[in-house]
Amino acid sequence: MDVHDKFLLAVKPVSVVNEIKVPLYIKQEDVNEIVQSVQLKPGDIFISTFAKAGTTWTQQIVKLIRNGGIADTVKINESIPWLEANGQFKVDVSSLLEPKAFKSHMPYNAMPYGKPHESQFKYIYVARNPKDVAVSFYFHYLRFQVKPGANLEWCVFFENFVSGKTVFGDFFDHVLSWWHHKEDDNILFLFYEDMKKDLKAAVSRVARFIEVDVSDVQISEIAAMTTFDSMKNDNTANYSWDLLQLNPGSTPFMRKGEVGDWKNHLTKEQSTQIDKICKERLQDTGLVFDFGCC
Ligand code: A3P
Repeated sequence: MDVHDKFLLAVKPVSVVNEIKVPLYIKQEDVNEIVQSVQLKPGDIFISTFAKAGTTWTQQIVKLIRNGGIADTVKINESIPWLEANGQFKVDVSSLLEPKAFKSHMPYNAMPYGKPHESQFKYIYVARNPKDVAVSFYFHYLRFQVKPGANLEWCVFFENFVSGKTVFGDFFDHVLSWWHHKEDDNILFLFYEDMKKDLKAAVSRVARFIEVDVSDVQISEIAAMTTFDSMKNDNTANYSWDLLQLNPGSTPFMRKGEVGDWKNHLTKEQSTQIDKICKERLQDTGLVFDFGCC
């Protein structure tokens, strides 16, 4: 049995949407139905990411900017639903705040509603270094592992991640697909690591991009409400409502929220393997990841 077979046995099987592998509960027919039935307007917002890159964090920033820095009791996945998965989660999108905002995990060319540069929607893409994404993604998989006793070993997950076999497709293809459009007017390209370094600056950039006026005081307040510790304790943002579905003993959704946690998990060889892929895939692109200090 090769690592791929072992991987598929250990985690949920996948489905395919717009030629991209996605979790089983996301169906092409549901995505088609949403696109046909939900008419979007210019200025509607997508927060697009590869998994575990800071999606929820950015959703919470967008939500609070639009609320003028006032917390409410609506869960983040209901305020800003995951578009491709709405066939499963069934949020009533007709009642969303306008402009509507959605989360998506699709690469650029597979975005529902077509290619972003042909649209009048706004797209916030968040990128995170692949070593931390891999670790965060692994712990995420362990939360939902469906086959009791089928331990998904880290080395098996890692091999699948670096060979592009995890859901949402190849990590490098995903990030580069958006990076090539980072200068487009309707795209804001952010890095998780920059958000960690200067959260107020990130809040301010997002507010400007989605054209919401916020005062300096509100920016400080929103930054304070979207630190890792604040969100970990925020029952509208920490996915604690999902607890019953999680494997006993697995890590909480708000796990560590750090840059460089990969050093506790990747072997030297695995780290070198990602460095090598970065060298090959990112040369001449100008894209450089921040892995935290070495
Ligand atoms: P870790 O597993 O490394 O802790 P996503 O929302 O895309 O699924 O990403 C989840 C990752 O973002 C998790 O990473 C989570 O802890 C981290 N995260 C969520 N909110 C955060 C915040 N306010 N600050 C820093 N990291 C955050």
